Amino acid sequence: MLPYAIVVRHVPWAQLKALEDFLSNAASITNHPQGVEEPLETSRDIFTKAYAFTRADEAAALGLHPFFRPIAAQHGGTVTVEGREMVITGSNDYLGLTQDPRLKEAAREALNDFGTSCTGSRFLTGTLTLHEELELRLANFFRKPAALTFSAGYLGSLGVISALAGRQDILYFDRENHACLYDAARLSFGTLRKYEHNDMDELERLLAKDAPKPGGRLIVTDGVFSMSGHIAKLPEIVAIARKYGARVMVDDAHASGVLGDGGRGSAEHFGLEDQVDLVFGTFSKSFASVGGFVAGERKVVNWIKHKARPFIFTAALPAMQMAAALKALDIIESEPWHREQLWHNVKLLHDGLNSLGFNTLGSETPILPVLIGPDELAVIFWRGLWDAGIFTTPALPPSVPTGQAIIRTSVNANHTPEQLKRLLEAFAVVGRQLGVIKG
Ligand SMILES: Cc1ncc(COP(=O)(O)O)c(C=O)c1O
Repeated sequence: MLPYAIVVRHVPWAQLKALEDFLSNAASITNHPQGVEEPLETSRDIFTKAYAFTRADEAAALGLHPFFRPIAAQHGGTVTVEGREMVITGSNDYLGLTQDPRLKEAAREALNDFGTSCTGSRFLTGTLTLHEELELRLANFFRKPAALTFSAGYLGSLGVISALAGRQDILYFDRENHACLYDAARLSFGTLRKYEHNDMDELERLLAKDAPKPGGRLIVTDGVFSMSGHIAKLPEIVAIARKYGARVMVDDAHASGVLGDGGRGSAEHFGLEDQVDLVFGTFSKSFASVGGFVAGERKVVNWIKHKARPFIFTAALPAMQMAAALKALDIIESEPWHREQLWHNVKLLHDGLNSLGFNTLGSETPILPVLIGPDELAVIFWRGLWDAGIFTTPALPPSVPTGQAIIRTSVNANHTPEQLKRLLEAFAVVGRQLGVIKG
């Protein structure tokens, strides 16, 4: 039996054993940064594992499946779900631009001019004038000679890393790097070395040990880590890179538009824009669209453009998405108040959660993880918030270390003070009920 005195509605004690069984295998429905190892299969039917996978259905029957919850309408700080309006936290619409009428209008115009799809690869018939315009604008924004866009950030990660890392090359990854970077390492021919999260001594030890080996080196780090909200230690990373002749690639998915006075991300935040070799990012967060990009030296970008299979063997990024991203870029450059409002809200939520006694793992960014601890408790916590009208999601091991399940909150510029108040009140009530905070 679970060790908690739980008083959450809809979670009868009789069902907790099923919850426990479900959660003991929670990894099978969560993402793993390095991929989930399935047990060795002996069956001749490749579908056997799928037929045996019942845990997600069991969790859903218990009302305890926190994932894939369909949203009927988005309104900025709130969403409509199952006929009711819920405060959403954990989305990545940092600047709140997904509902901006100017982005919608730009997307409509592009739809009129270019239609619904490119129906072809960039390499062949899919390159539009808009791709080139967007790439030029991105290069200028990030103060790099060139940029390239991809049909998704995920594909961009696969494309950049697999095009660069050949058989003798070595990739150095923070253990908390996003799953798309780990998948990219698997697609590449390079060797992967992992260092403990933000552990600069280990990074340096690994590079020093590899010094006699042939091949190139690429240090890859999230600029803002997607689960903990921590900022990468870029000053140390670039210093170590220069010492050992390594290049640096920063995944600024959660930092572009967010960090730096101009919104140019973690490199700008540290004043290191000329030291980071490749700025990588996505349009699916602050840019309120879809697609990925990389900015760097012209020759390097050109190499990626001609070699990256996840760039060449897929349909080009559609016009509507690019038009929305271009408009978002205009706004990021010319209207700093969205970022200021975001940081104002970050402070409200950060101070609110911490003063209630929650542990937000030292995050200083719009991603504010709330440490719950045991997996079971995190799922029950999620359910308590859900019942209170707060749309959020837990992150369970192996996405986070064992025993450190979190509720991943994040704030955006559109959240009103009333919505944040509702959110904090719900956290306070559920946190006290479940003994996560005192009072
Ligand atoms: C750190 C990081 N990198 C890359 C990506 C992938 O971006 P996209 O959503 O455009 O595929 C994500 C998305 O969740 C992310 O959080």
